[in-house]
Amino acid sequence: MDNIIKMKGVEKIYGTNIKTQVLYDINLSFEAGSFNSIIGQSGSGKSTLLNIMGTLDNPTNGEVYINGKNTTEMTKNQLANLRNDMLGFIFQFHYLLPEFKVIENILMPHYIKGGQLTSDVEKRAEYLIDMLGLTKVKNNLATQLSGGQQQRTAIARALMNNPKVILADEPTGNLDSDTSEDVYNLLRDINKQFNTTFVIITHDQRIAEKADRIIEINDGRINMDFKR
Ligand SMILES: Nc1ncnc2c1ncn2[C@@H]1O[C@H](COP(=O)(O)OP(=O)(O)OP(=O)(O)O)[C@@H](O)[C@H]1O
Ligand SMILES: [Mg+2]
Repeated sequence: MDNIIKMKGVEKIYGTNIKTQVLYDINLSFEAGSFNSIIGQSGSGKSTLLNIMGTLDNPTNGEVYINGKNTTEMTKNQLANLRNDMLGFIFQFHYLLPEFKVIENILMPHYIKGGQLTSDVEKRAEYLIDMLGLTKVKNNLATQLSGGQQQRTAIARALMNNPKVILADEPTGNLDSDTSEDVYNLLRDINKQFNTTFVIITHDQRIAEKADRIIEINDGRINMDFKR
């Protein structure tokens, strides 16, 4: 299996005068189509790691390869294009655009890519809306949604460009346990249906346990790497 993400010797040090090292010599690869979870205590470096593998943040040392390409030497524009083509992000706080409708929020990655609103694109958005149970609220503004609906809109948005990789930071962090289970099942379906690679940070034991691989971070180091 090809590695879709590969990190070599990644370190992160915050601060200039007072330096805090948050990640130490991380060597980690993810196979295309795999479903992975990252666990670890608060402050252990999980979000920092995810942001670095998603090229949202730079490592202090080391390299990040996405689809075999070294991202370290890329320009800001090249990185933005790579992210928009390859990666989907789901954050705990989903940053929907409040003045836009659900369907417009979902279409946003397509517009950012410079795409036209063709009937195929509309069909895909409708399909995601249906799959995520958002039909009734698709014309609501993002501010007129429940927490779970906002979360599901953010997930549909992350899927709109059919990214190869989804990076999720506590995607079910503010959902009740039944809704969490639904969201998890949905992510699994997408993983199977489209061979999308998932890396999911979670405190939810049940989600972590159902992944193909569990990686535990402890004080900026990989403490455990368990593959089923
Ligand atoms: N911009 C920053 N400047 C300085 N220190 C930072 C910065 N961002 C994060 N840190 C520190 O890096 C460490 C790791 O933070 P990170 O957000 O990666 O943890 P986490 O494992 O995601 O925690 P949580 O489970 O609470 O989300 C923490 O000690 C945090 O205080
Ligand atoms: Mg975090």
